[in-house]
Parts: sequence; C-alpha cells; structure tokens
Amino acid sequence: MMKLGLIGYPIGHSLSPWIHNQLLESQNLEGSYQLYEIEPDKFEENIKSLKKENLEGFNVTVPYKEQIIPFLDEIDQAAEFLGAVNTVKVEDGKWVGYNTDGIGYFSSVTSRFDNTLKDTSKVLILGSGGAARGIYHAFLQKGVRQVDIANRTVQKAEQIIKELNGEEFSEPLTIQEAGNRISEYDVVIQTTSVGMSPNENQSIIEFDDIKENALFSDIVYRPMNTKFLKRADELGAFLHYGHEMLLHQAIYAFKIWTGREPESSELIEKFENVLK
Ligand code: ATR
Repeated sequence: MMKLGLIGYPIGHSLSPWIHNQLLESQNLEGSYQLYEIEPDKFEENIKSLKKENLEGFNVTVPYKEQIIPFLDEIDQAAEFLGAVNTVKVEDGKWVGYNTDGIGYFSSVTSRFDNTLKDTSKVLILGSGGAARGIYHAFLQKGVRQVDIANRTVQKAEQIIKELNGEEFSEPLTIQEAGNRISEYDVVIQTTSVGMSPNENQSIIEFDDIKENALFSDIVYRPMNTKFLKRADELGAFLHYGHEMLLHQAIYAFKIWTGREPESSELIEKFENVLK
C-alpha cells in the first residue's frame, strides 16, 4: 500500500489526487493520495508531524516549494539549482527533494511534438515566475539554447538568464518587444497567470503574425483553450495545453516514487473530460 500525498495551501481544488489515483490504478498498485492542507503559520509543526506519517512520497505546491528545503535530508541537483522542490521521495526515512516542473513540461512537449522541437529551435518564454525558471532550466539542460524570456518586469527575465548561465544565447525582452518579434520564434510558451479563469478574456500578448509551423503553448489549464491559444489557433499554430504539463510533471513524480512511467496518451483524454 503506497501512501502518497500533497502539501500546500490552499489545495482543496487540486487535481493531483485524481491524477495520482489514475496512475496507481494504471499500474495495478494499491495506494492512497491524501491532501495535507497546511496553514502558513502552522507550517513547521505540521511538517514535523508529517515525518511520522510513513509516507512514501509527496508533492509540494504553493506556497511551500522553497520553504520545504530546510526540512530535506537531500536535494536533487535541478531542484537545488532552481531553489524549489515540488516532489519529495522518502527513502529509508530520509526526505529527498526533486523538481519535476521543468522536465515534466519538456517531456510533455516532446511526447507530442518531437519533430517540431529541435536543438536549433528558437524559443520564447513569456513570464519569469517559478514555472518559467523551471522550463528555462529544462530547455537549457536538454540542449535547446536559443531561449529568450519576456516579462512585464524585464529585470526578472534578465536575472533568470544570468542565474542559469544562458547569457550567451538568450535575450531578456519586454512584452512589447516580444509582441513585435513573435514571428521569429518556433516555440512560444506562456507561463504567466494572465488568461486564467475567471479572466479568460485576457492575454499577456497580442499578435497577428507567427512563424510557419510554430508551436504555441500555455501552461494555464483552466480554461483549457486560453485566449492566447485561441489566437494562435486562428493563425495556424500547433497547440500545446497546460493540462499536458500537469499530467507529465505528475508522471515524473510518480516515476520518482515508484520507478514506473505510465503512458500518458490514454490518460490525457480522460483528464480532458474531468477538466470540462
Ligand atoms: P509561478 O511561480 O506560478 O510561475 P509567479 O511567480 O506568480 O508564478 O509569476 C507570475 C508571472 O506572471 C510573472 O512573470 C508576472 O510578471 P511580473 O514578474 O512582472 O510580476 C506575470 N504576471 C502576472 N500577472 C501579470 C499581468 N497582469 N500582466 C503581465 N504579467 C503578469
């Protein structure tokens, strides 16, 4: 019986229990995935009692991805580099921290667009929050290096590029500059919260001209079809959706805990129905 879970606040609407129960079922594994909603002023005492719960692993979400780090016994290189942990594996009582956001995102793109994304692809990331950092890091690690970052606060884009040593190939841009140059990019990834329900009528960027065969991706999954993706669709782009990332980062976490990597294609359609 695998005991898994999620810590965060608030997490009442989390889709992770549904996803991990499906993953357990797909592997004929018996287990449970519990929500541990921890109020911010009770973080430390709750983490200490979590140590006694005999979990095999758990996910970490907002606002605890950084705060969990001092409670770990070990940390994986990518998570350490990013300064954020979203998955913990308990090994012989030791807590080991990982970050599956960037690598989950990368594999969700390559699983469907292996021919579109190449080492030579020119990529634009919109936004400079935790998700953008993870995605930027994963792309560099996988050898895709021409990755520019645009952000409302351009200094944050600059900082990510500097911290992750991408200065040779990457340019920080304002959102307006990114809008003017959008037709240069093979892949455009929207990582901000702009366009998320209930603000479906918003898009971080307006554009009229895109590169032929460009891939447009939005990590927002509610709604599934954001205004940004609808516009890209009108202009003939290939589309990659937020729920694909969500599923793949969960599969990566599941692989860390169980050593098994369930097939995503069967689950994705079921997941779309849950999101509707
Ligand atoms: P996460 O860690 O979940 O990726 P975050 O740290 O809250 O998210 O980052 C939010 C991102 O969305 C940032 O890039 C933020 O831009 P700023 O760095 O300039 O704040 C961007 N963002 C949020 N609301 C925005 C808005 N209304 N217009 C433009 N950018 C916005």
